[in-house]
Amino acid sequence: MENVIWLSGHERLVDDIVRAENCSLFDSAGKRYVDLESGVWCTPIGHGHPDILRVMGEQASRIAHTGFCYACPEVAAAAEAILALHEMAGGKCVFLCSGSEAVEYGVRVAQAVSARPMLMTMSDSYFGAYGSAYRKEADAWFCFDWAGCTRCRQPDGCSEACERWAAVPFETIGGFLFEPGSSSGLVRFPPDNLIRSIVAKVKANQGLLLVNEVTTGVGRTGKWFGYQHYGLWPDIVAMGKGIGNGYPVSVTAIAPQVAKRLERHPVPYAQSHMNDPLGAAIAHTVLAVIQREGLIERSRDVAAMLMAGLEGIRKRTGVITALRARGLMVAVELRDDDRATRTTRTHRVLAERGYILAQRPGLNVLRLDPGLTIERLDIEGFLETFEAVLTNGK
Ligand SMILES: Cc1ncc(COP(=O)(O)O)c(C=O)c1O
Repeated sequence: MENVIWLSGHERLVDDIVRAENCSLFDSAGKRYVDLESGVWCTPIGHGHPDILRVMGEQASRIAHTGFCYACPEVAAAAEAILALHEMAGGKCVFLCSGSEAVEYGVRVAQAVSARPMLMTMSDSYFGAYGSAYRKEADAWFCFDWAGCTRCRQPDGCSEACERWAAVPFETIGGFLFEPGSSSGLVRFPPDNLIRSIVAKVKANQGLLLVNEVTTGVGRTGKWFGYQHYGLWPDIVAMGKGIGNGYPVSVTAIAPQVAKRLERHPVPYAQSHMNDPLGAAIAHTVLAVIQREGLIERSRDVAAMLMAGLEGIRKRTGVITALRARGLMVAVELRDDDRATRTTRTHRVLAERGYILAQRPGLNVLRLDPGLTIERLDIEGFLETFEAVLTNGK
């Protein structure tokens, strides 16, 4: 691994994973690890799902990649299926290569069609590794700090009586980019009232609602998409990660009313793998598998079992200070020092004992985002091991 640039700050817990199957990873000695993070939230239907392997082989043997002057029917079929899920019939999709790119494309669309190029978002949202939403320059973004809003009990939503609300320059804002739960990977969910108030105000000013579903999409939160927990109707949705189940495809979906405006203000954006049939066919298959296997309903049952187990561990050990979850997007916060010594050790020991979770370096939060297909036995095994590690340190 000396010749590979690794993600800075992250501890590499296992060096030789050679194979994966559903939610299990195997190293070169045959040791099994339960993948409780879906490899960076990316494999909702499990590693190596037979339908994905089949479509990869079949589509790649027909045609994997196209140019800008010709198209393949698989791309149109996948777009139609995605738009139907968002109730955006008559809209448009573009297939890209990463979550960051899908968000960036959505931002470019909003900037192209809106009279007011300033966008609003939450100060702790994460949108990608590059692009305008990564940089959040002060002249292009208004970032709202909602930390104080979690304790707000105003039943009717936000109003000018609130200082934080009154400070938002709504008259300059052309769109709201919303991440419906995750907030830099820490699994936070902005309050319903706040989001509905922002969306109502932005829409009243003819602004657009953009939603980043890169982590919350395709069943992760117990519904198809995270915005559905808020009863919203987005104009633009960015999807990535899980929609490719490990293959690097992402999608930006655009509602018909915005797609129409794009005809007059096209987005000057080109990259070599835009609308490649292989990625589109994989995304289409991921959605079909989730639907056919009833994975969202299944994931709700598994999530209930996992949360009941974690709640029990919280009561018995006194080490868990907070549990946050929606569907199979779960965060466990531990009592720890400011260097997160206990959390880092727990993360490492769990990996040694065969359970891979996510930890943002230096923070006292462990994250679980298993595949929607995870076996109940693996959840039981994890809960037993987790309690032992929290209690005995090993
Ligand atoms: C909420 C959110 N949005 C966007 C992205 C960017 O996706 P990608 O890493 O595929 O570019 C990430 C990546 O972690 C994310 O967590």
